[in-house]
Amino acid sequence: MADQPYVLGIDIGTGGARVLVIDQLDGSVVAAASSTYAVQRPQPTWSEQDPQDWWRGCCEAIREVLAGDVRASDIAAIGLSGQMHGLVALDANSEVLRPAILWNDQRTATQCQSMHDAVGQDQLIAITGKPAMTGFTAPKLLWMREHEADSYSRMRHVLLPKDYVRLQLTGVHAIDVADASGTSLLDLSTRDWSSEILSTLDVDPDILPAVHECSQVVGSVHAAAANDTGLAEGTPVIAGASDQAAAGVACGIADASVVSVNLGTSGVVFAARSEAPCDPSGGLHGYCHAIAEAWHVMGVMLSAGESLQWFRDALGQGEGYERIIEGAANIAPGCQGLSFLPYLSGERTPHADPNARGAFVGLCASHDRHHLARAVLEGVLLGLRDCLELVRSDGQAVDVVRMTGGGARSATWRQMAADVFGVPVCSVNVSDGSGYGAGLLAMVASGRFDSVPEAMAASVLEQDRLEPSADSATYEHVYEQWRGLYPALAPAFAEATIATSSSPT
Ligand code: XUL
Repeated sequence: MADQPYVLGIDIGTGGARVLVIDQLDGSVVAAASSTYAVQRPQPTWSEQDPQDWWRGCCEAIREVLAGDVRASDIAAIGLSGQMHGLVALDANSEVLRPAILWNDQRTATQCQSMHDAVGQDQLIAITGKPAMTGFTAPKLLWMREHEADSYSRMRHVLLPKDYVRLQLTGVHAIDVADASGTSLLDLSTRDWSSEILSTLDVDPDILPAVHECSQVVGSVHAAAANDTGLAEGTPVIAGASDQAAAGVACGIADASVVSVNLGTSGVVFAARSEAPCDPSGGLHGYCHAIAEAWHVMGVMLSAGESLQWFRDALGQGEGYERIIEGAANIAPGCQGLSFLPYLSGERTPHADPNARGAFVGLCASHDRHHLARAVLEGVLLGLRDCLELVRSDGQAVDVVRMTGGGARSATWRQMAADVFGVPVCSVNVSDGSGYGAGLLAMVASGRFDSVPEAMAASVLEQDRLEPSADSATYEHVYEQWRGLYPALAPAFAEATIATSSSPT
């Protein structure tokens, strides 16, 4: 192990940058800081951010953690994680050509279809582990080529969000296998760019960064970044991982029977696999894990915590999350027939429908805002149950769910999750999943651990196990009813999309 006692774990999230200083010996977080930034929505289903905001946020948070007792020279290595799938387009001088297009942007339905037509949907699934999805990076590239041809012709580098931050830190253009597997351009088996897809789509391979395994060192902090952040010049920076793979590391997800559910803005069901996953139906999506020679499957709801945030802002009457959940806890499971569909930003899993919308169904005069709140909490979990069913669909049993993310802080919501999923739900001793996972990867690079599984086994413990209660039987019935709602409403959602795009705000 290097002499320095600490590593840094950085997460470039959608809401802000979070920086953790982690003690290499006992795994404790000795300092943490965040800096927030905004999402721009120039059109109803678009979602963009200014990459400079990520770097500004990252510098602020690093400066804050270094303002205390931690000295820059005590940091052995830096791990990065970040929001997946975003397109950062840079010119020959690595200047940003347009705002980054984010993971929850829905503008590329036509380009996904073009990818399926050109490559063949079956072939795309066989190579990349999933169909093209509107949030993924490759369809965004095609969108840019069609709609912003001038910027596209000047583009010389493509990066993902955390990789832009790495570029600012080190001057190196690089990506890790986990994030690269969310672009729709990576061959899952070889863990490298697919020349077949690149040539079929006529995308220049030279614009893509080199792909690395997640705990590999790919550069070091250069002088200008040391000046901006207060870090020591020369501090090693590892490849890092997508926020979901890093959160999987922080949850100790290394074998198929223990699944994690990350309840943040998005909601993610994540399970490890020992072979490159390929579900020919395209329902279950495969990615590279942050563990070398391992993969993961994942179901992603686009508006999980976002649905509760929407409820708080629109209908919460000034109450915070805790009070809202407390009020909802007194309502009986099933909310007297009231259901909520949590598709406020369209949906990825299982419906892959950018036009999907949110809905309350079954309202009657006796419902008050606490029923509405409970319906939102249940609707999010029922959507996650859809993802869990997909994760089980390749025959792997799920013994326990480890829940993380902001939503896991509420024991009430966790108990509801155990009841809706019908399996025990635990939390883990680690909060700040993605940043912490990035830190564990950095500890492999520093020599503290020999491998990622060893780092996970030494650091991650299950706690607060909640068994499914008697409400579980009610939720089996509720789930059967609820899953019929989306197919019934999908045509109305498509109509609503046409109306949204043609009416003034
Ligand atoms: C995962 C995904 C989101 C983002 C959020 O595929 O799109 O979870 O990574 O940060």
